[in-house]
Amino acid sequence: MEAPPLLTELADYRPVQVLAEQLRATTVEDLFAQDPARATDFTLQAAGLRLDFSKHLLNREALAGLLRLADQAGLSAAIAALFDGEPINNTENRPALHMLLRASGSHGLDDKFTQVRDAREQMRQWSQRLNSGVQTGFSGAVITDVVNIGIGGSDLGPRLVSEALQPFRGDISCHYVANVDPADLQDTLLDLNPESTLFIVCSKSFRTEETLTNSLAARNWMLQAGAGQADLDRHFLAVTSNLQATAEFGIPAANCLPMWDWVGGRYSVWSAVGLSCAIAVGWENFQRFLAGAEAMDEHFHRSPPQASMPTLMSLLEVWYCNFFAAGNHVVLPYDQSLRRLPDFLQQLTMESNGKRVSRAGRPLPYTTAPVLWGSAGTMGQHSFHQLLHQGTELCPADFVLPLTTHTGMQEQHRRLVANGLAQSRTLMVGRSTDNARDALLQRGLDEAEAARLAPHLAMPGNRPNSVITMNAVDPATLGALLALYEHRTFCSAVLWGINPFDQWGVELGKEIGTQILARLSGEAAGGHMDPATERLMKEWRAAQG
Ligand code: F6P
Repeated sequence: MEAPPLLTELADYRPVQVLAEQLRATTVEDLFAQDPARATDFTLQAAGLRLDFSKHLLNREALAGLLRLADQAGLSAAIAALFDGEPINNTENRPALHMLLRASGSHGLDDKFTQVRDAREQMRQWSQRLNSGVQTGFSGAVITDVVNIGIGGSDLGPRLVSEALQPFRGDISCHYVANVDPADLQDTLLDLNPESTLFIVCSKSFRTEETLTNSLAARNWMLQAGAGQADLDRHFLAVTSNLQATAEFGIPAANCLPMWDWVGGRYSVWSAVGLSCAIAVGWENFQRFLAGAEAMDEHFHRSPPQASMPTLMSLLEVWYCNFFAAGNHVVLPYDQSLRRLPDFLQQLTMESNGKRVSRAGRPLPYTTAPVLWGSAGTMGQHSFHQLLHQGTELCPADFVLPLTTHTGMQEQHRRLVANGLAQSRTLMVGRSTDNARDALLQRGLDEAEAARLAPHLAMPGNRPNSVITMNAVDPATLGALLALYEHRTFCSAVLWGINPFDQWGVELGKEIGTQILARLSGEAAGGHMDPATERLMKEWRAAQG
């Protein structure tokens, strides 16, 4: 993939800027009045998902301008390069082939697909072994609990998926430990019996401090409970690309499932990194999850840009980030089972696109990767929605709204949906000062008091949002949803001219962490730090008594 011009150098950058300036002077409600068909035309369907992007400060002309920018940025060629397995991760000289992990055919990448199929077979067998009760622990007890030890991409994806697919779960309970804070492991192990617990050490590199520290502690827990060294094979699996390190740790090759350097950690839930999910929901459901993602891949690969859901969502991201200076993006799943979605998307979007130089290493004169945050509705309504409605920051939002519930509690779910739709509409329409004053007068306030309070009640509206609906959260729609955001992230990277598949920015902190640990452990090798860090280390030493 050639390094294309920067976003600001594209021929249509300035014309699109002019369109943005014009639209700033209008309202989404005006846009609806001028073009009522946008309610249906500004929608897309793919892989069981529907995207409604009609409540955006965007008209057909601006959309056409953004599509021209995508064209000038070389989006179609970049998508082809992605799917063809070209080394588009240009700083590490690797392809990014997470789509192959959920593919039903090889797409010409026969060797890699054979490895994927073999890994799937391993996953199927482990899932079946555990779910059929064949796998027993050191005392002969059947395994009832699986603990995934991993962090970042080796945690957030599997954790989200197994929580979101709770209604599809079998008898095995899955738990997730990520933080090096000992409380994470300790709290998790509190209710578990070592005899019936299996750990999956999930680490592509098998070098990650948090994961290795927790895994060693888990091994000690097992040994202290009476397991012998030879019994550990019954209690530890690994998912990794570093078989030498797993051997040193003591996990035999037969208990290791593969990862590959052509899959980034944050794109890896479809691989054996998702083993805990396959165990939790069973192999059939995990396959449905893969199939849902594959359907989204097909849609993304084959659709023209104007009909592509990931492309459209990326254009909206760039539109607000670069033409409206929006530094935030809010994701609001109106479904408790998707409460981890913002956490997952934070790593996906911010570790991928939190970059300040182009693919060719040129400093970027514009913003990339808005800060992504959010939480499950309706909780945010009683917390940060105030800022969404009346704050000074423009925070474009994605509502994710499954239309049915697995709970069987229809009335309560109706309330949830009503709240989601109400928030989406309220963000758009807002409330004028006049309207606020009238409402206060109707409540019986006098003219002066109504005039005094009206500005506080007024809401500007015009706060853009998308609504993504699906019939239900199930393995297939969940797969499609995650793949949708993966591809959106890729498209935005193409428009910004950056490489979304490396993460060099996490390295230095790890190095300095090692030096500080050496100092805290009393080793001089850690070197001398700045005065503030020296003082804080002293404070820590004093607190140890
Ligand atoms: O430090 C960041 C990171 O490398 C992520 O990209 C990755 O998902 C996470 O750490 C965990 O890495 P690993 O799977 O190698 O333990």
